[in-house]
Amino acid sequence: MTYINQLSNYENETVTLKGWVYNSRSSKAIHFIELRDGTGICQCIVSLDEVGEEVFEEAGTLKQESSVEITGNVVKDDRSIGGYELHASGVKVIQVADNYPITPKEHGVEFLMENRHLWLRSRRQWAAMQVRNAIQFAIHRFFQKEGFIQMDAPIFTGNAAEGTTNLFETEYFEEKAYLTQSGQLYGEAMAMAHGKIYTFGPTFRAEKSKTRRHLTEFWMIEPEMAFYDLKMNMDLAEKMLKFVIGAILEEKSAELEILERDTTSLQKAVDEPFKRISYTEAVEILKSEKTTGLLDEMENSRKEEVNEIRKEEEEIRKEHGSAKKWRKAQIDQRIKEIHARIDQIEEDLRNIPVWKKSAAEFEWGSDFGGSDETVLTMQFDTPVMVHRYPAEVKAFYMKRDPEDDQLALALDVLAPEGYGEIIGGSQREDDLDVLLSRLKEHDLPEEVFSWYLDLRRYGTVPHSGFGLGLERTVAWLCGLTHVRETIPFPRMMGRLRP
Ligand code: 4AD
Ligand code: MG
Repeated sequence: MTYINQLSNYENETVTLKGWVYNSRSSKAIHFIELRDGTGICQCIVSLDEVGEEVFEEAGTLKQESSVEITGNVVKDDRSIGGYELHASGVKVIQVADNYPITPKEHGVEFLMENRHLWLRSRRQWAAMQVRNAIQFAIHRFFQKEGFIQMDAPIFTGNAAEGTTNLFETEYFEEKAYLTQSGQLYGEAMAMAHGKIYTFGPTFRAEKSKTRRHLTEFWMIEPEMAFYDLKMNMDLAEKMLKFVIGAILEEKSAELEILERDTTSLQKAVDEPFKRISYTEAVEILKSEKTTGLLDEMENSRKEEVNEIRKEEEEIRKEHGSAKKWRKAQIDQRIKEIHARIDQIEEDLRNIPVWKKSAAEFEWGSDFGGSDETVLTMQFDTPVMVHRYPAEVKAFYMKRDPEDDQLALALDVLAPEGYGEIIGGSQREDDLDVLLSRLKEHDLPEEVFSWYLDLRRYGTVPHSGFGLGLERTVAWLCGLTHVRETIPFPRMMGRLRP
C-alpha cells in the first residue's frame, strides 16, 4: 500500500492507493476519481480501455466517500492537485457509501457541527487538524530543546486555580472535585523539583457565554520556571511563539494554502520583535482618536467590499444558466466563497458598533474583553505583549509590581489581526505572608492550598510561567474565525455531541 503524499517516490511505477472517493465526474469512457487517503488527494483516471467494461461500470457507481482500492501507474502532472495522477489498471470497491450528507454544496454551521464526525474529512478541516498536530509537536520540540521536562498535571483537583466562577464540579467518592482549569499550581511544585517544566493537557472551564474564543474543554501548555522574572518570562513566550510559527510556515505551507491563509503576519511574527506595552499604554490606545478613526474606516471599507462582491455574484449567476458543466462547478464554488465572505463581513458590521462602544466606555482598572482585544490587536501586525495589569482583575497568585502595588506582574500575549489573547501568565508571588493575605482577599480557603503554601515555606524562589491556549493558537495560525474548527470534537456550551 502506498500513501498519496509519498507518490513522488513512485513516478512511473505501479502502486495501490487505498482511500475514499472525495469527488468524481465521468465522461463516456473515463471516470475521474479524486481519491483521498488521509495524507492527500490524488486524481485517479479510470478509463474503459484500460480496466474493461465490468470494472469500469462498477467504478461508475462509486458515490462520494465510498471506500476503494485503486491500483495504477503514477504519472507526474503539474496541473493535478498534489502533482501526480494515477492511471488506473484496477479498481477494488470496499464499500459503496450511502448518500453522503456533506456535499460540495453549502451547509450551515449547525448542520456541519452535528456532523462533525464526518465534517472532519473535508479538506479545510483536514488541513486545520494537520496544522494542529504540527503545532503540538513543535511545542514539544521547543521545550525539550530548551531543557524543560513535560509533566502531567492532574485533571481532578481539590482547589480552584483561576477563580471559582467557571468551575466544573463533579462527585469524587465522598467529596467534591473540580475538573482542572489550569495545571499551573502543580506546575509550580514540579518546577521546584526540576527547574523548568511544562504541562500539556486538557483544561476545563464552564464558560457560560458563546463566543468564538471560548471552549469548555481546551488544551493548555503551561511552562513554569524557577528563578525567572517577568522579563525572562516574556522573552521565553516570544521565543516559543517564534519557533512554533516558524516551524508551521516551513512544514505546513500546503495546509495553510488549503486554508487560504495569508501568511504575511505570521512571517512578521517570526522576523520582527513583538511589541511590548503596559496595560496602561494599551488602555490609552484603546481610547484614542486613532482607534475611533480606524473603526470608522473599517466600517466603510467592509460596506464597499460587500457591494462589490454582491455585484460579482450577480454577474456570475447570469452566466450560470448557459455555462458548461465545469464552469458551472467553478461558479458554484465561487458563490460559496462569496457567501462565506459576506457572512464574515456582516458579522464585522454587526460587531463594529459594539467594539466602538466598548472601547469608548473602557475604564482603567477593568480587564479587556474580547471586543477590546480585537480592537487593540487590529492595530498591530505582530503579536503584542501587554504587561502589568491592575492586580484587582488578576489571579491571587500573581506577584505585585514592586514599583506600583496596584499592578500585578502579569503578561498577556495578544495575537494580531483581531485574534486577541493566546497567552496569559505572570511572575508568581513567592512570599508566604503576602500569599496568605491574597488568599484571604480572594476569599479562598487556606486549607486546600496548604500544599501550595509549602512551596513558599521550603526554599521559595522567584518564579514565573504562562499558559498558551492551543485552540486559539491554531485558530490564529490557520486564520480560522472560530475555535470550534480547531479541535476534533469541540466542547462548548450547548455542544456535547458528537
Ligand atoms: O489566561 P489564563 O486563564 O491563564 C491561566 O490559566 C494561567 N494559570 C496560565 C499560567 O500562567 N500557567 O489562560 C491561559 C490561556 C489563555 O490565554 C487562552 O489562550 C486559553 O488559555 N484559554 C482558553 N482557550 C479556549 N477556551 C477557553 N475557555 C479558554 N480560557 C483560556
Ligand atoms: Mg487570561
